[in-house]
Amino acid sequence: MDRIYHALLLAGAFLRPASAECRILKRGLSRDLLLMGDGILTPDGVFQRDSVLFIQSGRIAYVGDICGLGTSGGGDDASVVDCRGSVISPGFINTHEHIDFSTVAPFPDIGERVGHRHDWRLGTRNFTMREVAVNGSEIDAIAWGELRHIFSGTTSIIGGGMVPGLARNLDFTDGLEDGLESRLVIYDTFPLKDRLGIMRNGDCDYGPNAIDRDTATQYHRYIGHIGEGIDVEAANEFICLSNVTFDTTPAIDGSGLSTDIIAPNVALVHALGLSLHDFDVVAARGAKVVWSPRSNMYLYGTTLNVTHLLGAGITVALGTDWLPSGSATMGREAACAVSATREIYNVSLAAKVLWEMATINAARVAGYEDELGSLEAGKLADIVIFSGERDGDPYEQAIFAPQEKIELVLRGGKVLVASSGMKDLTSGSCEQVSFGNVDKTVCVADELGSSFRELEASLRGVYPAVLPGVPPYEPSCKPGIKL
Ligand SMILES: *[C@@H]1O[C@H](CO)[C@@H](O)[C@H](O)[C@H]1NC(C)=O
Ligand SMILES: *[C@@H]1O[C@H](CO)[C@@H](O)[C@H](O)[C@H]1NC(C)=O
Ligand SMILES: *[C@@H]1O[C@H](CO)[C@@H](O)[C@H](O)[C@H]1NC(C)=O
Ligand SMILES: *[C@@H]1O[C@H](CO)[C@@H](O)[C@H](O)[C@H]1NC(C)=O
Ligand SMILES: *[C@@H]1O[C@H](CO)[C@@H](O)[C@H](O)[C@H]1NC(C)=O
Ligand SMILES: [Zn+2]
Repeated sequence: MDRIYHALLLAGAFLRPASAECRILKRGLSRDLLLMGDGILTPDGVFQRDSVLFIQSGRIAYVGDICGLGTSGGGDDASVVDCRGSVISPGFINTHEHIDFSTVAPFPDIGERVGHRHDWRLGTRNFTMREVAVNGSEIDAIAWGELRHIFSGTTSIIGGGMVPGLARNLDFTDGLEDGLESRLVIYDTFPLKDRLGIMRNGDCDYGPNAIDRDTATQYHRYIGHIGEGIDVEAANEFICLSNVTFDTTPAIDGSGLSTDIIAPNVALVHALGLSLHDFDVVAARGAKVVWSPRSNMYLYGTTLNVTHLLGAGITVALGTDWLPSGSATMGREAACAVSATREIYNVSLAAKVLWEMATINAARVAGYEDELGSLEAGKLADIVIFSGERDGDPYEQAIFAPQEKIELVLRGGKVLVASSGMKDLTSGSCEQVSFGNVDKTVCVADELGSSFRELEASLRGVYPAVLPGVPPYEPSCKPGIKL
């Protein structure tokens, strides 16, 4: 009887006109969820009319035409939600953060664009040293950063820090959530142990214990900052990590040899110092690239010719870097990717390409593409739904959406954020939070250990986690002065 009721409910619902926001048709007893949609972003394209996505026990059980749902019927205990008019996307995966800097406001723009990261980190070569200390409690800062990203549809992060719950931390076994099987993902800010400001040109005499081939090959993924800068010293870093014969003379302590780690399990973060030829090497080896255009533009005045990378077949993922020079959200990173590519290279990047960089490509970079990154049966139900406009490009509506457009954020089927219309889907300790002029229901207290409001009150004065529209003091994405 329930099954028949269900079928009638769905048939009736599909006859109603779609609206821009989701509507609950039936509140079920379980966490299972049947979403009706006409903007479901799948690897096989946008599923439009009469499509459904069924979430059972935290995973995607079915996505496709309503007729194919079959006798599983969506489950009698499932809630049924009509999301026609909205876009349903995999949760975003942010492959480059320094999440412990989430209580630090963006650097003021002093007009300087530098040659190498040590120039702003340490003030080398007469550039201005920028303040980079973690502000206050590191744990609070990490939680605050994860909240900011969850509030904008990001469900997984590689960011060098973690708190239990909230976003999945793909670089920490304890941060994976939902029993996700651990893999060795190593995230390294200083592969060449150059933290103290070592810059080389013509040899590889960096710090001791730099990454080498034998070490890198042991990892499921090695995601390292390589070539962050636009000068020969930045280019030199790639040579030292991709060419064994480049430097065969050891330094006094036996270190300082070039090596070759460039392989399918390696992703290069920034890679700004690489030449087009270097990227052909990256492509030939099946290595991947993490692109952070806003931070590139703000610090160095330019960014990658991503058209070349894509044309060469390189898997490129987007990452926000950090608040001081990067984007506060994945959507703002994508916006900068588009404007920078247009202004520097006179190329228009399609919204779909950017959306892939924030979803499936990112999952591939992290080595989690079998579990995350797309709406496919069997994968974890990490899903974000944005309210839409009826006739727009659905990829554009997903990747550029500001926080206030969030209808639902699910991590493993659990509701973390819901719009006011979706409030009845929430359970546990939830609270109302204003995202600009709309209210959302935020359900993070059980994982956070305090309410969002309590954390917000204790951090008063730090850069906000709720950022409707364009974030304040956002670092500029304009091409910089030539050096
Ligand atoms: C650090 O946090 C305090 C509030 O505790 C805030 O007033 C200050 O602006 C923050 N510093 C930066 C650089 O954002
Ligand atoms: C830094 O500035 C000083 C004083 O103007 C100058 O003598 C020196 O050559 C500069 N160093 C570099 C690396 O540009
Ligand atoms: C590697 O470095 C050697 C020595 O500098 C150079 O002769 C060779 O062309 C380089 N190989 C590649 C593939 O760049
Ligand atoms: C960017 O890459 C494209 C594709 O390889 C190439 O045609 C173009 O010349 C490059 N632009 C610059 C400025 O290097
Ligand atoms: C930019 O590209 C368009 C074609 O896509 C071309 O018509 C135009 O001349 C280009 N502008 C510049 C400044 O190269
Ligand atoms: Zn970084």
